[in-house]
Amino acid sequence: MSSAPTPPDRYALVGHPVSHSWSPFIHGMFARATLQHMQYRLIDVAGDRFRAEAVQFFVDGGKGLNVTIPHKQAAVEFVNELTTRAEEAGAVNTISLTRNGELLGDNTDGIGLVLDLEQNLGLNLADKRILVLGAGGATRGVVGPLLARRPNLLAIANRTVARAVEIAEAFSARGSLVPSGFDTVEAKPFDLIINATAASLAGTVPPIAAATVGRETVCYDMAYATGDTPFTHWAAGHGARATHKGWGMLVEQAAEAFLIWRGVRPQTRQVLDLLTAKGREISRITRPGNGP
Ligand code: ATR
Repeated sequence: MSSAPTPPDRYALVGHPVSHSWSPFIHGMFARATLQHMQYRLIDVAGDRFRAEAVQFFVDGGKGLNVTIPHKQAAVEFVNELTTRAEEAGAVNTISLTRNGELLGDNTDGIGLVLDLEQNLGLNLADKRILVLGAGGATRGVVGPLLARRPNLLAIANRTVARAVEIAEAFSARGSLVPSGFDTVEAKPFDLIINATAASLAGTVPPIAAATVGRETVCYDMAYATGDTPFTHWAAGHGARATHKGWGMLVEQAAEAFLIWRGVRPQTRQVLDLLTAKGREISRITRPGNGP
């Protein structure tokens, strides 16, 4: 008599809302490609029930969680240990069980962005002039990994200047950071402009000077949609060398989470091509803070 098959290892994304998430599709593709016996599902948890649901998930034998809004900060308090990058980001998007049964909180958003820029888009960030628009959670998550690439300058511009100043102060020991409002950004071409604001979701573009975009400027919107976002549309109209959306960041942050959980890093190209292919059109604009 044959024994019952081993159940798959269980993973999930916890957040609210999560119904639109691409993560089950992405992790399902990764699992098939790397022959991992696992399942990945969505857990829609609103309000203050994050801790109770997360405890239950691990008590029931779950192996790892992705966390998205509105629980990324609550997850910092929930885990037993934090990686340095999660501590710096002040947010956890990946929880894993360590060998001694502790819960480790990590953040793969920043490295996901940097890997997309470097490996998928072929950009070298060292000595470059980089402008990040926004000073919310999404920005805080990527500043550390961007500074680790030693740019010449990392400017952070935000509608609420005080939040940009706060982030610049928090990371001042790590590199050259210049906080400002949108109207006081240096009006000179940057090598790379990253939109980390939620403005695209509201159908608007942060009001920065057109002179920040030159013929060599690459513009990247963390938001992802099939067509242009308001920011990529604006950037293309001002002669940017290239414009990109956040699909690659979405896939690379997932690949890093998969690596943490399974010890194997999946290839990302095929998943990325599938997600950005015409057939998978979605009408709404989404971004990492609202994903993965
Ligand atoms: P997240 O964690 O997803 O980054 P957040 O912490 O709420 O979300 O931050 C949202 C960011 O988008 C902030 O930088 C916010 O600017 P403020 O700090 O001034 O609020 C920015 N933002 C949101 N809507 C915007 C808009 N319509 N125009 C420009 N910036 C906007």
